[in-house]
Amino acid sequence: MEKIKIKINDNEVEVEQGKTILQVAKELNLHIPTLCYLEPLSPQGACRLCLVEDRGKLVTSCTTPVAPNMDIKLDTPNVVNSRKLILQLLFTERNHYCMYCEQSGNCELQNLGYEFGLDHFEFSTYEKKFSIDNSHDYIIMDPNRCVLCRRCVRACSELAGHFVLGEMNRGIETLIIADMNVPLGESSCTSCGLCAQVCPTGAIVDKRSVYLGKDVQTDIIYSNCNECAVGCGTKVYKKKNSNFIVKIYGDMDSEINGGVLCKIGRFSALFDEKPRVISSKIKDDFGFRKLDSDKIMKLISEKMDELYVYVDGSLFNEELELIKSIFKDKVYSLYPNEPQIPSNVTLNDLKNANEFIVIGVDLNREFGVIGSFVKRKVLGGDGKLAVFDSNFNSLAQISHYTFNLNELKDGLEKLKEFKSPIVIYKELPKDIIEILKGKENLKYLWLPPETNSIGLNKLNIKHEIKNSKTILFFGENIEALKNFDKNTFIIAFTPYEPEDLLRRANVIVGISNGFERDGTFYNLDGKLLKKEKILSPKFETLDLKKFLNEFKNVSLVK
Ligand code: SF4
Ligand code: SF4
Ligand code: SF4
Ligand code: FES
Repeated sequence: MEKIKIKINDNEVEVEQGKTILQVAKELNLHIPTLCYLEPLSPQGACRLCLVEDRGKLVTSCTTPVAPNMDIKLDTPNVVNSRKLILQLLFTERNHYCMYCEQSGNCELQNLGYEFGLDHFEFSTYEKKFSIDNSHDYIIMDPNRCVLCRRCVRACSELAGHFVLGEMNRGIETLIIADMNVPLGESSCTSCGLCAQVCPTGAIVDKRSVYLGKDVQTDIIYSNCNECAVGCGTKVYKKKNSNFIVKIYGDMDSEINGGVLCKIGRFSALFDEKPRVISSKIKDDFGFRKLDSDKIMKLISEKMDELYVYVDGSLFNEELELIKSIFKDKVYSLYPNEPQIPSNVTLNDLKNANEFIVIGVDLNREFGVIGSFVKRKVLGGDGKLAVFDSNFNSLAQISHYTFNLNELKDGLEKLKEFKSPIVIYKELPKDIIEILKGKENLKYLWLPPETNSIGLNKLNIKHEIKNSKTILFFGENIEALKNFDKNTFIIAFTPYEPEDLLRRANVIVGISNGFERDGTFYNLDGKLLKKEKILSPKFETLDLKKFLNEFKNVSLVK
C-alpha cells in the first residue's frame, strides 16, 4: 500500500493510504474512544464517539480514511466536548440506570461514562418504555438499553451469516428487530449467541449468564470447543474461586471461527442438564451397587482374555493412545471414522469459496459454524448453494437449488453455472459416491461424524463391530452399543447416564465430561487443538488418564 504523510497531534507520521484514522491511531498506540466500532465488523459510523478534528472539521475516525495533508488532532476541547455531549445524549435516549442493569460492570457505555467523568444526567431522560423480548430460549433483548450501534445487526449478518437482525423506525424510535419484526424466539435465529457477545450494553444478554458474575470476577480460559470436529476457538469465562462457567464467547482472534460459535458451542455447557454418572457401579439381581476403582481394575484384569475395547471420538488423543498401548489390537472404533471421499479443501478454502453443494447434512443443526461460512456467502449475495437431502434441511430455504438425494445425478447436470463447487458431506450412500466420483470438477469437505474422528483415524483404530463375551467402552455416545449381542457383558466408562445405558450396561464407570478434563484432538482440517480443563469434576468421577496409567502399570507388572 502507498505511504502518505499526515500529522497527528502535531507529529508528522508516514501512514498507509487506505487505512482509517482509527486504524492508524491504534497502530501508533493512540487512544480514541469508540462504541459502535468492533473489529472485524465493517465500520458503521453510528455512534460518533470516535470524532477527531481534521483542520478544524470534526470527522468520525472509524470511517474516514487517511488522506495526504491531514492534520488530525485527537483531543482538542472541541473534540472532547463533542464526545461528551454525544455520550450525554446516549445516556438520555433510553433507560441507562446502571444500578438495575445486568451489564453494569461489563458495559462499554458505562465505561465511557467513567472515562468522560459523567456524574449526572445533563438532559431529562427519555421516559418511553419499549417492551422486552423474552421469547427466545437463550437470549433476552431489551431495547431500553440499546444505543443503536448496530453491532448485533452487522455481527449476525457479516460474521455469523444468519441475517436475522435488522432495524425499524427512525431516530430515537429506532428498534432492532428480528426478521420482519417477529419475536426473536419465533424468528429464523439459530441461537448462535453472537449478538449477545458483541452487544456493548445490556440490550442483548444471554439468559443463563445473567447475574452469574462480572468479567472482573472471572478467569478467562482460551480453549477449543470439542463439541464437533470444527474445533472453534473459545474464551471461557469461569467464576473465580468457584466451579461454574459464567459464559462462553467465540475467540475473535481464532483462525478457525473468527469469533462465531454455534448454539451447541456457546450454550451446551451452560444448559447441560443431561443426567451424569454420579459414582461407579455394577449391576446385579437387585439393581446397581457401588464399585471402587480397585475392583474395576480387578474385574477388567479377569476379563482381559475375552474382551474387545470400543472407543468413540469424544476421547482425546492422549486417552486413545493410552488405551491403545494397553489393549493393543483389541481396540476398535464404535463409529465409522474414515472419509468416504477425502477432503481436498480446508476451512479457509471454504470461507473463500462461492459455490457449495451440501449433501445430506443440515449444517444449521449439526455444524452451525460451517453453516455460518456458507450462509454469509449465499445470503450475502456472493455464493451459490445447492442442497441434496431426503430429509428436512433448513438450508433448503436459502438454497438456489434443492433436490431429493435420489435426484443427485440429474440435479448435478442442472448446476450448469457451478464451475468448481465444494461438496460438503458427512456420510454418503454408496450409489451417491459412485455418481460423485464421475465428476471431476468437484472439491470435497468431509465433516467427520465425531469430534476426534481424525485422531481415531491417525491411530489406525478401525470401525468394526465384533461380538465377544465382554465389551469395554470408553466414550460418550452409547447409541451403537445396541448393536452388540444382548448377553454381552458391557463395562462403560462414560460421563453421562441416559436410560438406555442403565438398561444395557453391566458396569458403569463415571468419568469427567469434556469441560472437566483436558487433552488434544484433531479438527477436520487435521489441526492439533487443545481442550483445556475448565471445571473440577462435580461427582465421584474417575480420572480416566490416571486410571489407565495405573492399569497399564499393573498389567506390565503381571
Ligand atoms: S446498558 Fe450499560 S449504561 Fe445502560 S444501564 Fe446497563 S450498564 Fe448502564
Ligand atoms: S443469536 Fe445469532 S442468529 Fe440469532 S439473532 Fe443473534 S447473532 Fe443472529
Ligand atoms: S442491541 Fe446492542 S448491539 Fe444491537 S444495536 Fe442495540 S446496543 Fe448495539
Ligand atoms: S466508533 Fe466511530 S462512529 Fe462509532
